[in-house]
Amino acid sequence: MGWNSLDDMDLSGKIVLTRVDINVPVKDGVVTDDTRIQRILPTIRDILSAGGKPVLLAHFGRPKGQVVPEMSLRQVLPALEAALGREVTFVETPSRDALDALPADAVVLVENTRFTAMEEANDPQMAGFLASLGDIYCNDAFSAAHRAHASTEGVAKLLPNCAGRLMQAELSALEAALGNPERPVVAVVGGAKVSTKLDLLGNLVSKVDHLVIGGGMANTFLAAQGIDVGKSLAEHDMTGTALEIMEKAKVAGCEIILPVDVVVAREFKAGAENEVVAADACPADAMILDAGPETVAKVASVLETAKTLIWNGPMGAFEIEPFDAATNAAAKQAAELSKAGKLISVAGGGDTVAALNKAGAAEDFTYISTAGGAFLEWMEGKTLPGVAALG
Ligand code: 3PG
Repeated sequence: MGWNSLDDMDLSGKIVLTRVDINVPVKDGVVTDDTRIQRILPTIRDILSAGGKPVLLAHFGRPKGQVVPEMSLRQVLPALEAALGREVTFVETPSRDALDALPADAVVLVENTRFTAMEEANDPQMAGFLASLGDIYCNDAFSAAHRAHASTEGVAKLLPNCAGRLMQAELSALEAALGNPERPVVAVVGGAKVSTKLDLLGNLVSKVDHLVIGGGMANTFLAAQGIDVGKSLAEHDMTGTALEIMEKAKVAGCEIILPVDVVVAREFKAGAENEVVAADACPADAMILDAGPETVAKVASVLETAKTLIWNGPMGAFEIEPFDAATNAAAKQAAELSKAGKLISVAGGGDTVAALNKAGAAEDFTYISTAGGAFLEWMEGKTLPGVAALG
């Protein structure tokens, strides 16, 4: 794939600058979900067992080039140490001499790379400084690879470089889902707005066989066909674009699957009184909050024959019950098919992982990406600078 893995590098006695993404949720100074930390452990362990000294570079939050104490990576240190089962040396201002002086098997975490504006500016001086700290650069931060920053892109060009284990896993899974997938391929794309996923939809229709559109976005597509969607969330100024996407799909031979029936309610709240109506029969004073059972059955029949699934975004207002039903049903079915070895299922981006976790389906998906924005940009067909710089 044009990049090296850790296995291609001689790490013995080397300082391995390792870009990781430990931009994890923190509440009151405590990490509330350590998934991203767990996922970088194989890379750290493999560097150590090959005799290298991992020096972790990472960002946290968006401090905009300022030192913001609440965004210090120091607060992530206990969770990292607990996950790794050993001490990690925290360094605020690294120097080559200080790193050299640490024991050969030390693991080092450097303070938030975004505490200087030079990081996001991809300043050559900062890239050069980072490069002076290590012998080898390893990028294990797929989820930050859409950023061309000094620690994700600039430094990669200045040292022998490789992809870490998580980066490798992410790229392989994504390649299996969209690069060279087993067909038929179905994509499920949900979420609130067409406007944020325009490029993504445009790219997908030329790559997948079936595109299921759910969430608020589906309302915009229904409105584009002259259907009255009542008080539903919809971008009425995007209906022209929705029609263009449908036309593009037709030309590419991609079937777009929109709701044929919908669950409507008068209030946006858990347990709100609701009813199922045909997609073109939303009452004027109601809003569409989920896809209906007939739509779920249609999606089920498509999943049944699919070989590959790529999923981004919930199919309805999954955060409030009972409007999570369509998302749950499709997620559970995809999980079962994946578990049975009949489907390769890859999911990622924003709310998606939360929705699949809520459905109890995440564990059986073939691959769940740790990436939000990077997953979307990759689905849009964009080149990710952090990946392009490897090799
Ligand atoms: C993420 O949380 O998606 C990554 O860490 C990237 O963060 P960013 O959007 O602030 O660059």
